[in-house]
Amino acid sequence: MSSFRATPQNAGGPVQLFYQAVDDKPCPIISHGKGIYLWDTAGKKYIDGSSGPIAVNIGHGNQRVIDAAAKQMQEVAYVSRNFFQSQANIDLANLVAEHTGAGLERAFFVSGGSEAIESALKLARQYAVTQGQESRWKVISRDPSYHGATLGAVAITGDFISADLYGPMIQPMPKISTPFSYRVPEGHTVESYALECADALETKIQEEGPETVLAFIFEPVGGLATGALAAPEAYYQRVREICNKYGVLLIHDEVMSGVGRCGHFLASQHWPNSQPDIVVLAKGLASGYTPLGAVIASAEMVDSISASGGFNHGFTYSSNPLSCAVGLAAVQEFLDHDLSQNALAMGARLKTHLQDIQQRRRVLGDVRGLGLLMAIEIVSDAATKSTFPAHTRAIPRLVEIAMQKGLLLYSRRTAEGRFGEWLMVAPPLIINSQQVDEMAAIIDDTLAVFEAEVAGENS
Ligand SMILES: Cc1ncc(COP(=O)(O)O)c(C=O)c1O
Repeated sequence: MSSFRATPQNAGGPVQLFYQAVDDKPCPIISHGKGIYLWDTAGKKYIDGSSGPIAVNIGHGNQRVIDAAAKQMQEVAYVSRNFFQSQANIDLANLVAEHTGAGLERAFFVSGGSEAIESALKLARQYAVTQGQESRWKVISRDPSYHGATLGAVAITGDFISADLYGPMIQPMPKISTPFSYRVPEGHTVESYALECADALETKIQEEGPETVLAFIFEPVGGLATGALAAPEAYYQRVREICNKYGVLLIHDEVMSGVGRCGHFLASQHWPNSQPDIVVLAKGLASGYTPLGAVIASAEMVDSISASGGFNHGFTYSSNPLSCAVGLAAVQEFLDHDLSQNALAMGARLKTHLQDIQQRRRVLGDVRGLGLLMAIEIVSDAATKSTFPAHTRAIPRLVEIAMQKGLLLYSRRTAEGRFGEWLMVAPPLIINSQQVDEMAAIIDDTLAVFEAEVAGENS
């Protein structure tokens, strides 16, 4: 029998306690959501300012998705793909392929980002083997980066904390530096540093032995690990050229940046000459209405694997009808409302507000991102770009102040703040101008309260 007893201190219940440190405050209990808003059971209203963890692209309570889920459940919620195809799977694969474009015609659906990353790694490996390139298995990635929580994903994730903890259990993969733009090494411009980081890929391939390198994976617009970092165009081109030169597959992790978040169906469509060989999607694909991810590759790649006996990989819930039906409705909703376009327009408006706030708030060091995948970097002094010491817990405190003011901002201190610290600003893509203004005003107030607290502590 469980020894758990609910008390006011652990009122979040055993599920929350599983994830939280003992001294963490329990989260409020969710009541319901509609559009960009959420309400807790105490009646407090919040703007979902980061779409959860950058997932709920079409907003909450969408009737089309609810209806599609109910219809699919009434027909059949689940069958194994080993016995039946489902129309929802076929339709979703076709719709996604229509928008990912030439070279990315085949989609395999799984239950989230980490599963999709695992699937991409195995797809790449199996393709290399079908091409007679058994010696290729190393996957180069960037440091820092985030590619998921499963052990294969941890092996390619550039996060030294995770590597310390799980390192003995995995085969660590080679890493190269991520081209940060806010702090660049002396003597560099943002562009020259980005090119140096791209050239490091070639050096790393040569060091490792080109015949052993299977793929290079990166987030074309970063998530939490880099705070919505995008690189100058030349970076994407150079990376593509290097991959071509050495026959290395280029994988884009678009778990956060995909499905319109950055203003195109894929963020990589901002750089049409630097297209990936494999793309990974999740989060916005089903907008959080159900767990769903996808690995997408060319017909040529998938056909050659099929010809060699089929993809030797899968999960019980791969391509299940319910998740596909939900994903299909979410993507149709996104397309019908041209939410890529809205992400660009509202992203520009939000960025202008944030840059304006940056002029007034000295703790706001940098505003960056593309479309509605944005981040604000927090510093103790914008002039020196210095970070707050860990013990001040600046980021959790900012999250707390914003939440008290009715705004949810996703963040945690990644890599112990070694590369800086930031809050993700990424509301649902359905946000309108007035709501953007409302959100920006709360961010301004939050920073003002935080600055006053810091000034008080220092006086
Ligand atoms: C860029 C990126 N890749 C992969 C993942 C893993 O996705 P999931 O949490 O759905 O397994 C995430 C999750 O945040 C992510 O941001």
